Amino acid sequence: MLSLRSRVTTIVATVAALFFLLVAAGLAFVYSGMYDVSASSKDNPIMAKLLHDTYEASMHRHARSDVAPGDLLSFENIRSGAKMYDSSCALCHGAPDRPLSLIGQGIQPAAPSLLSASRRNKPELMFWTIKHGVNMTAMPSFGKTQSDQAIWQVAAFIYAERGISKDKYEQLVHRNAQVDNTGVALIGPKPEPGKE
Ligand code: HEC
Repeated sequence: MLSLRSRVTTIVATVAALFFLLVAAGLAFVYSGMYDVSASSKDNPIMAKLLHDTYEASMHRHARSDVAPGDLLSFENIRSGAKMYDSSCALCHGAPDRPLSLIGQGIQPAAPSLLSASRRNKPELMFWTIKHGVNMTAMPSFGKTQSDQAIWQVAAFIYAERGISKDKYEQLVHRNAQVDNTGVALIGPKPEPGKE
Protein backbone atom coordinates (compact mmCIF):
# COMPACT_ATOMS: atom_id res chain seq x y z
CA MET A 1 0.00 0.00 0.00
CA LEU A 2 1.17 3.48 -0.87
CA SER A 3 1.75 5.74 2.07
CA LEU A 4 -0.31 8.93 2.31
CA ARG A 5 2.85 10.89 1.64
CA SER A 6 3.65 9.18 -1.63
CA ARG A 7 0.00 9.46 -2.73
CA VAL A 8 0.10 13.22 -2.18
CA THR A 9 3.42 13.38 -4.07
CA THR A 10 1.87 11.50 -7.03
CA ILE A 11 -1.15 13.86 -7.13
CA VAL A 12 1.02 16.97 -6.97
CA ALA A 13 3.34 15.62 -9.68
CA THR A 14 0.37 14.77 -11.96
CA VAL A 15 -1.23 18.22 -11.51
CA ALA A 16 2.13 19.90 -12.20
CA ALA A 17 2.69 17.75 -15.32
CA LEU A 18 -0.81 18.58 -16.62
CA PHE A 19 -0.23 22.26 -15.98
CA PHE A 20 3.06 22.25 -17.91
CA LEU A 21 1.45 20.30 -20.75
CA LEU A 22 -1.34 22.89 -20.98
CA VAL A 23 1.15 25.79 -20.99
CA ALA A 24 3.26 24.01 -23.64
CA ALA A 25 0.17 23.31 -25.78
CA GLY A 26 -0.93 26.95 -25.41
CA LEU A 27 2.49 28.26 -26.45
CA ALA A 28 2.65 25.81 -29.36
CA PHE A 29 -0.77 27.06 -30.53
CA VAL A 30 0.24 30.74 -30.25
CA TYR A 31 3.53 30.35 -32.11
CA SER A 32 2.20 27.93 -34.73
CA GLY A 33 0.27 30.85 -36.32
CA MET A 34 -2.79 28.60 -36.66
CA TYR A 35 -5.24 31.09 -35.13
CA ASP A 36 -6.62 33.41 -37.81
CA VAL A 37 -6.29 36.99 -36.53
CA SER A 38 -7.41 38.63 -39.80
CA ALA A 39 -10.18 41.23 -39.59
CA SER A 40 -11.59 40.05 -42.92
CA SER A 41 -13.13 36.94 -41.37
CA LYS A 42 -15.61 36.88 -38.48
CA ASP A 43 -14.44 35.94 -34.98
CA ASN A 44 -14.99 32.39 -33.87
CA PRO A 45 -18.51 32.61 -32.27
CA ILE A 46 -17.39 31.18 -28.91
CA MET A 47 -14.48 33.61 -28.72
CA ALA A 48 -16.74 36.52 -29.79
CA LYS A 49 -19.32 35.65 -27.10
CA LEU A 50 -16.67 35.31 -24.38
CA LEU A 51 -15.03 38.60 -25.33
CA HIS A 52 -18.36 40.43 -25.53
CA ASP A 53 -19.55 39.09 -22.15
CA THR A 54 -16.21 40.10 -20.62
CA TYR A 55 -16.72 43.60 -22.01
CA GLU A 56 -20.31 43.86 -20.71
CA ALA A 57 -19.37 42.72 -17.20
CA SER A 58 -16.34 45.02 -17.10
CA MET A 59 -18.37 48.04 -18.24
CA HIS A 60 -21.14 47.44 -15.66
CA ARG A 61 -18.60 47.04 -12.87
CA HIS A 62 -16.37 49.99 -13.76
CA ALA A 63 -19.12 52.45 -14.71
CA ARG A 64 -20.75 52.26 -11.25
CA SER A 65 -19.04 55.38 -9.95
CA ASP A 66 -19.81 57.63 -12.94
CA VAL A 67 -22.53 60.16 -12.13
CA ALA A 68 -24.16 62.11 -14.98
CA PRO A 69 -24.30 65.93 -14.66
CA GLY A 70 -27.72 67.36 -13.70
CA ASP A 71 -28.16 69.24 -17.00
CA LEU A 72 -27.16 66.20 -19.09
CA LEU A 73 -30.06 66.46 -21.53
CA SER A 74 -29.91 70.20 -22.13
CA PHE A 75 -30.19 71.24 -25.77
CA GLU A 76 -26.68 72.70 -25.77
CA ASN A 77 -25.22 69.40 -24.56
CA ILE A 78 -27.12 67.40 -27.15
CA ARG A 79 -26.12 69.71 -29.97
CA SER A 80 -22.43 69.77 -28.99
CA GLY A 81 -22.57 65.99 -28.65
CA ALA A 82 -24.09 65.72 -32.14
CA LYS A 83 -21.21 67.69 -33.63
CA MET A 84 -18.63 65.53 -31.91
CA TYR A 85 -20.51 62.38 -32.95
CA ASP A 86 -20.47 63.46 -36.56
CA SER A 87 -16.77 64.31 -36.61
CA SER A 88 -15.39 61.44 -34.51
CA CYS A 89 -17.90 58.58 -34.25
CA ALA A 90 -20.07 58.39 -37.38
CA LEU A 91 -17.25 56.88 -39.44
CA CYS A 92 -17.51 53.68 -37.40
CA HIS A 93 -20.99 53.89 -35.81
CA GLY A 94 -22.84 55.30 -38.82
CA ALA A 95 -25.23 58.20 -39.34
CA PRO A 96 -28.86 58.07 -40.58
CA ASP A 97 -29.16 57.25 -44.29
CA ARG A 98 -25.44 57.59 -44.92
CA PRO A 99 -23.20 54.81 -46.22
CA LEU A 100 -20.74 53.58 -43.60
CA SER A 101 -17.13 54.77 -44.14
CA LEU A 102 -14.46 52.42 -45.46
CA ILE A 103 -13.04 52.21 -41.94
CA GLY A 104 -16.43 51.35 -40.45
CA GLN A 105 -16.97 48.64 -43.04
CA GLY A 106 -13.55 47.11 -42.45
CA ILE A 107 -13.33 46.75 -38.68
CA GLN A 108 -13.96 43.47 -36.87
CA PRO A 109 -15.91 43.32 -34.60
CA ALA A 110 -18.14 45.84 -36.36
CA ALA A 111 -19.24 48.88 -34.35
CA PRO A 112 -22.92 48.86 -33.23
CA SER A 113 -25.33 51.39 -34.84
CA LEU A 114 -25.63 53.66 -31.81
CA LEU A 115 -28.41 55.77 -33.31
CA SER A 116 -30.80 52.93 -34.14
CA ALA A 117 -34.20 53.26 -32.45
CA SER A 118 -33.90 49.93 -30.63
CA ARG A 119 -30.81 50.97 -28.61
CA ARG A 120 -30.93 51.90 -24.90
CA ASN A 121 -27.63 53.82 -24.58
CA LYS A 122 -27.75 54.33 -20.79
CA PRO A 123 -25.61 57.49 -20.39
CA GLU A 124 -23.44 56.31 -17.46
CA LEU A 125 -22.49 53.10 -19.27
CA MET A 126 -21.90 54.85 -22.58
CA PHE A 127 -19.79 57.52 -20.85
CA TRP A 128 -17.48 54.88 -19.41
CA THR A 129 -17.00 53.12 -22.74
CA ILE A 130 -16.44 56.35 -24.66
CA LYS A 131 -13.97 57.61 -22.07
CA HIS A 132 -11.96 54.39 -21.75
CA GLY A 133 -12.47 52.63 -25.10
CA VAL A 134 -12.61 48.86 -25.54
CA ASN A 135 -9.36 46.94 -25.64
CA MET A 136 -8.86 44.54 -28.58
CA THR A 137 -11.52 46.29 -30.67
CA ALA A 138 -11.39 49.45 -32.82
CA MET A 139 -13.21 51.48 -30.10
CA PRO A 140 -10.76 54.24 -29.04
CA SER A 141 -10.40 55.80 -25.58
CA PHE A 142 -11.61 59.39 -25.96
CA GLY A 143 -10.63 60.20 -22.36
CA LYS A 144 -7.07 60.53 -23.62
CA THR A 145 -7.94 63.62 -25.63
CA GLN A 146 -11.39 64.88 -24.57
CA SER A 147 -12.77 66.47 -21.40
CA ASP A 148 -15.36 64.61 -19.31
CA GLN A 149 -17.81 67.36 -20.31
CA ALA A 150 -17.37 66.65 -24.04
CA ILE A 151 -17.79 62.92 -23.39
CA TRP A 152 -21.01 63.46 -21.37
CA GLN A 153 -22.30 65.59 -24.24
CA VAL A 154 -21.82 62.86 -26.83
CA ALA A 155 -23.34 60.34 -24.37
CA ALA A 156 -26.31 62.71 -24.00
CA PHE A 157 -26.70 62.90 -27.77
CA ILE A 158 -26.71 59.14 -28.38
CA TYR A 159 -29.12 58.64 -25.46
CA ALA A 160 -31.59 61.40 -26.35
CA GLU A 161 -31.52 60.96 -30.13
CA ARG A 162 -31.84 57.20 -30.64
CA GLY A 163 -33.83 56.71 -33.81
CA ILE A 164 -33.08 60.27 -35.03
CA SER A 165 -34.17 61.11 -38.61
CA LYS A 166 -31.71 62.13 -41.31
CA ASP A 167 -33.13 65.68 -41.39
CA LYS A 168 -32.94 66.26 -37.67
CA TYR A 169 -29.41 64.81 -37.60
CA GLU A 170 -28.22 67.13 -40.36
CA GLN A 171 -29.79 70.14 -38.67
CA LEU A 172 -28.29 69.38 -35.27
CA VAL A 173 -24.86 68.82 -36.77
CA HIS A 174 -24.67 71.55 -39.39
CA ARG A 175 -27.00 74.34 -38.44
CA ASN A 176 -27.40 76.40 -35.35
CA ALA A 177 -30.90 75.14 -34.70
CA GLN A 178 -33.19 77.50 -32.86
CA VAL A 179 -34.04 77.11 -29.23
CA ASP A 180 -37.33 78.44 -27.85
CA ASN A 181 -37.46 80.28 -24.54
CA THR A 182 -37.97 77.04 -22.60
CA GLY A 183 -34.64 75.73 -23.92
CA VAL A 184 -36.37 73.12 -26.09
CA ALA A 185 -34.88 72.56 -29.52
CA LEU A 186 -37.00 73.64 -32.45
CA ILE A 187 -35.83 71.71 -35.45
CA GLY A 188 -37.14 72.97 -38.75
CA PRO A 189 -38.87 76.27 -39.45
CA LYS A 190 -40.08 78.00 -36.32
CA PRO A 191 -43.92 77.92 -36.23
CA GLU A 192 -45.56 81.29 -36.60
CA PRO A 193 -47.31 82.52 -33.46
CA GLY A 194 -50.87 81.23 -33.25
CA LYS A 195 -50.34 78.60 -35.95
CA GLU A 196 -48.89 75.74 -33.87
C1 HEC B 1 -12.50 53.34 -35.37
C2 HEC B 1 -13.84 52.93 -35.08
C3 HEC B 1 -14.59 53.58 -33.95
C4 HEC B 1 -14.71 54.92 -33.68
C5 HEC B 1 -14.09 56.10 -34.42
C6 HEC B 1 -15.60 55.02 -32.56
N1 HEC B 1 -16.00 53.77 -32.16
FE1 HEC B 1 -17.28 53.32 -30.64
N2 HEC B 1 -17.02 51.34 -30.95
C7 HEC B 1 -16.29 50.80 -31.98
C8 HEC B 1 -16.39 49.36 -31.92
C9 HEC B 1 -15.74 48.38 -32.85
C10 HEC B 1 -17.21 49.05 -30.82
C11 HEC B 1 -17.65 47.65 -30.33
C12 HEC B 1 -16.73 47.17 -29.26
C13 HEC B 1 -17.12 45.76 -28.78
O1 HEC B 1 -17.45 44.92 -29.60
O2 HEC B 1 -17.12 45.56 -27.55
C14 HEC B 1 -17.59 50.32 -30.22
C15 HEC B 1 -18.39 50.45 -29.10
C16 HEC B 1 -18.87 51.65 -28.65
C17 HEC B 1 -19.82 51.78 -27.57
C18 HEC B 1 -20.39 50.66 -26.71
C19 HEC B 1 -21.71 50.21 -27.27
C20 HEC B 1 -22.36 49.11 -26.45
O3 HEC B 1 -23.29 48.52 -26.97
O4 HEC B 1 -21.95 48.84 -25.33
C21 HEC B 1 -20.09 53.12 -27.44
C22 HEC B 1 -21.02 53.78 -26.46
C23 HEC B 1 -19.30 53.81 -28.43
N3 HEC B 1 -18.58 52.89 -29.15
C24 HEC B 1 -19.33 55.17 -28.63
C25 HEC B 1 -18.51 55.85 -29.50
C26 HEC B 1 -18.49 57.29 -29.62
C27 HEC B 1 -19.41 58.22 -28.86
C28 HEC B 1 -17.53 57.59 -30.52
C29 HEC B 1 -17.06 58.94 -30.95
C30 HEC B 1 -16.74 59.92 -29.91
C31 HEC B 1 -16.97 56.33 -31.01
N4 HEC B 1 -17.60 55.30 -30.36
C32 HEC B 1 -16.00 56.21 -31.98
C33 HEC B 1 -15.57 51.49 -32.93
C34 HEC B 1 -15.41 52.86 -32.99
